[in-house]
Amino acid sequence: MASLAKDFFIGLSNNEFLNKSAKKFGARFGAERFVAGTDFDAVIPVIRELNKKKISCTMDHLGEFVTDREESERAKEKIIHMLHQINEENLECHVSIKLTQLGLDIEESFCIQNVEQILKVANDYNIFVNIDMEKYSHYRKTLEILKQLHQRYSNIGTVIQTYLYDVEKDIEELENVRLRIVKGAYKEERTVAYTFKEDIDRNFLEIAKKRLLGKAFTSIATHDHRIINELKKFIEEHQITKDNFEFQMLYGFRVDMQYQLVKEGYQFCTYIPFGEDWFGYFMRRLAERPQNLNLLVKDVFYT
Ligand code: FDA
Repeated sequence: MASLAKDFFIGLSNNEFLNKSAKKFGARFGAERFVAGTDFDAVIPVIRELNKKKISCTMDHLGEFVTDREESERAKEKIIHMLHQINEENLECHVSIKLTQLGLDIEESFCIQNVEQILKVANDYNIFVNIDMEKYSHYRKTLEILKQLHQRYSNIGTVIQTYLYDVEKDIEELENVRLRIVKGAYKEERTVAYTFKEDIDRNFLEIAKKRLLGKAFTSIATHDHRIINELKKFIEEHQITKDNFEFQMLYGFRVDMQYQLVKEGYQFCTYIPFGEDWFGYFMRRLAERPQNLNLLVKDVFYT
């Protein structure tokens, strides 16, 4: 049943017509609990509030699977504008980008050019840029682009999805690169990805522990208290200092736990999506946790 619900919402997240239609309406039907606003100005007060609570943020200007050059260029300009604002407003935050928003499905060199323009501005302001990981079909290209750009810019990193089988070698090759560790949010074939939660969780723990003992900064991105508790024990046992890793969660999820981790002295970063292209992101959150549907129903009936 859970797997059927997952397939259903993942199917919706990939539906081009629904994605386009939803853009016209703005974030609603429960989505506003997880999407902080439609433009960056509206989100600045949210970031300030979190910063006051010692929480840093990573900003995702929503958008993916773009097939139109102008749309990709507009997205790039918006991200660059956001970087200027982050600097001017002195906000404790960095940015997360998606290569398919910046032209990966149009032309690789065009995408690299767009990312490089973003990186240059971010580098001047000492702001980190994270490349989110998308579907497996983009995995190899994403890593190639990351490695290429990392030779020229140190302020770039990416994401490793622990549902994938063959990440061990990549993790080794990326030992000097800042990484975010996640379980993985897309529907993938059994030929490339684990489907059982136990396997994905075991792989998550193995990879996170390896990274925690390594040199480069690691973001542990999960809402799973079991994983977080096991890693907290590991961190204590190995006397790992708290300055080389952080926990990350999505905006609107397990907020009490986010504050609790900060109270315990851990670095914490909230991933904040914003923008008009909210539909695919919201459907993936429903796929992960159909209980989020309760919020949707409440919004429809009680607001
Ligand atoms: P999971 O959904 O496996 O839940 C495990 C358990 O935790 C549940 O059984 C429940 O007990 C508890 N739990 C979870 N959520 C809860 C809630 N809201 N309330 C109460 N209990 C809850 N994916 C990707 O493919 N590419 C990417 O770039 C990113 N980026 C990213 C950034 C950040 C900051 C996060 C947190 C996640 C991502 N993801 C991602 C998504 C990620 O791959 C994954 O799909 C989700 O985080 C869901 O998996 P979890 O590990 O959070 O727990």
